[in-house]
Amino acid sequence: MPQMIKNDKLPAEQSIYAARAAALAARKYGENPKACVVTFGCQQNVSDSERMKGMLVRSGYTLTENMSEAHFILFNTCAVREHAEDRVYGNIGTTKALKNANPEIIVAVCGCMAQRQSVADKIKRSYPYVDMVFGTQVQHRLPEFIYRRLSGGGRIFELSLDNGEIPEDVPIKRDGTFKGWLPVMYGCDNFCTYCIVPYVRGRERSREPERIIAEASDMIASGFKDITLLGQNVNSYGKGEPHGVDFAELLKRINALDGDFRIRFMTSHPKDCTKRLIDTIRDCEKVSSHLHLPFQSGSDRILKRMNRRYTRESYLELISYAKENIPDLSLTSDIIVGFPGETYEDFCETLSLVKEVEFSSLFTFIYSPREGTPAAAMEDPVSREEKGRWFSELLRVQEDIAKRNIVKHIGKTYRVLCDGFSQSEGFMTGHNSGTTEIEFEGSAEMLGKFVNVTVKKYDGALYGTVTE
Ligand code: SAH
Ligand code: SF4
Ligand code: F3S
Repeated sequence: MPQMIKNDKLPAEQSIYAARAAALAARKYGENPKACVVTFGCQQNVSDSERMKGMLVRSGYTLTENMSEAHFILFNTCAVREHAEDRVYGNIGTTKALKNANPEIIVAVCGCMAQRQSVADKIKRSYPYVDMVFGTQVQHRLPEFIYRRLSGGGRIFELSLDNGEIPEDVPIKRDGTFKGWLPVMYGCDNFCTYCIVPYVRGRERSREPERIIAEASDMIASGFKDITLLGQNVNSYGKGEPHGVDFAELLKRINALDGDFRIRFMTSHPKDCTKRLIDTIRDCEKVSSHLHLPFQSGSDRILKRMNRRYTRESYLELISYAKENIPDLSLTSDIIVGFPGETYEDFCETLSLVKEVEFSSLFTFIYSPREGTPAAAMEDPVSREEKGRWFSELLRVQEDIAKRNIVKHIGKTYRVLCDGFSQSEGFMTGHNSGTTEIEFEGSAEMLGKFVNVTVKKYDGALYGTVTE
């Protein structure tokens, strides 16, 4: 059962709006107004949605996954690639029929895509049944927006991106009960030339360490066993802040909290990944042995054009240091294939880096031009078909590596957090401190518990036996 963590505060002003919205919603929709939140994009969005769900509950709504029974429908959107945006437009389109059937329902679009002025304009013009569009830095005002619309106000378009203080004291309705997200910083200052994120999320802002520690403590007290610290560039946490706590120090402080739990984090940027951070991962027993370190391209020429500010050599040096220092390390990465001006020779450097490092898994993307970014204005002579061939070649190489490496787990014993049901009857799934998934005999009462599992065989999945 998803649960509410203790923090259900709201700042006074939003608290009043929430109470008024609840009264209006009850009058309009009867006893049990329902809200459906549909989330696209990365974990940052999933975490934002958990906060908006908390505010919806405070505003009198019960949450539902069934859009057709909802009185309030919220799309939390992603703008990172064109495909992500197309999916959102398709989904918004489906609400037209619902709205025709019941004009009283409210349709809202928020998140990274909504933050783009061109998107907001398009919705204003072509999607008249959308009641409100709001950006990434005003989400904490959701109760106010609901109140305004329910009390007969006009359509709402709120896109201010003033990079002000991070709103704290927001209620949270977490999706999980033992695995959860904990945002530590918001925004991005890196301006990689292909990327829309800095434009839609605004400048880097870090939460106060005390706030993060308090939220982590709350999560641990509520039974969370796997906490992922989130930020677009998590290892630049604390930069420019007077408190002087950097990401490594933050990890140490969370690691020092009492309780049996695991700390994960994403995403780290190679340019801010120091040996000190790697040492901290090694030395903190609760920090998982996983490093997600996107390298994007193996070619220095392309890295420069991407404005990534590290080289192939410095990346590889970090990776060897991490491999030497962290036992059973899971390494994962993001790669873009077909950046403007990338040649097959450049791409081969990406392939050779993949072969050299042998990542546990990869998130691979074909370059997607994002309007307003510098790369979108660069010449891009290679066809989509050609990029597709390179992409398939990369997938084949990674598949071979993964197949070869997965059997290396056989015979090893890991501490595994049981986190799901296997497809096979009577079996559960779990993850070790890295990203390795293992199946073992068990039942529902093991969910959310740590068990020691010895890996016995690989047969489409890794199978092990509980050895406690
Ligand atoms: N802040 C993180 C993640 C950003 S978005 C980081 O810097 O790693 C997640 C991934 O999407 C990126 O790592 C990149 O590989 C991919 N991505 C971002 N913009 C893209 C674009 N325009 N086209 C294709 N992939 C993109
Ligand atoms: Fe985008 Fe680069 Fe920032 Fe990641 S670090 S969010 S890829 S601009
Ligand atoms: Fe997408 Fe925004 Fe995340 S653009 S990847 S949802 S930060």
